[in-house]
Amino acid sequence: MKFFVDTAIVEEIRELNDYGLLDGVTTNPTLIAKSGRDFREVIAEICAVVEGPVSAEVAAMEAGAMIAEGESLAQIADNVVIKLPLTLDGLKACRHFAGQGIATNVTLCFSANQALLAAKAGATFISPFVGRLDDINLDGMELIREIREIYDNYAFGTEILAASVRTANHVKEAALAGADVATIPAKVIKGLAGHPLTDRGLEQFARDWAATGQSIL
Ligand code: E4P
Repeated sequence: MKFFVDTAIVEEIRELNDYGLLDGVTTNPTLIAKSGRDFREVIAEICAVVEGPVSAEVAAMEAGAMIAEGESLAQIADNVVIKLPLTLDGLKACRHFAGQGIATNVTLCFSANQALLAAKAGATFISPFVGRLDDINLDGMELIREIREIYDNYAFGTEILAASVRTANHVKEAALAGADVATIPAKVIKGLAGHPLTDRGLEQFARDWAATGQSIL
């Protein structure tokens, strides 16, 4: 499963990229607002740091205007992915970009039928929002499993990008459910490496090694 980081904070992206843990980045209007930076400028900077896909979301609601915004965003860098909402207009824009060979991420997906439509529209990525479904007492991970089955039934090439991932358990469950990608907050990605038994084991090894009085180099 590929790891994207869900942030518009360039320092977080740089740090994870340096660890070799990053396959791509997703942003959304809320994350851009939180960064307090100019949208185009921050996307250009992220694309210069990360080789993989970087999702930049349109703000328009109507297909023609989404296409105009998406074409402009696609000029920023070769790895920009145009993020489009899962509406009829968003699907129309998605079909347009698929015809142009421009990568898309269809976002705000909350049902298997929406995901089926996105695949038929030629989406590169579909973003089912796991955490927001859990927030309203539904089962976000069940949606990932349903989409996996449907896409496999018809050999759709659209990649399942588990989004609104909030916990380490979401990451594990998304991997078990066969998501192609998970987009994850930086703090959660870093937290995946931690385990109290790793810390305890390391402390003991360090103590025992010091007692030998040896050095490796
Ligand atoms: C994905 O592309 C979205 O930007 C993101 O995962 C939404 O997460 P949230 O529901 O935690 O805001």
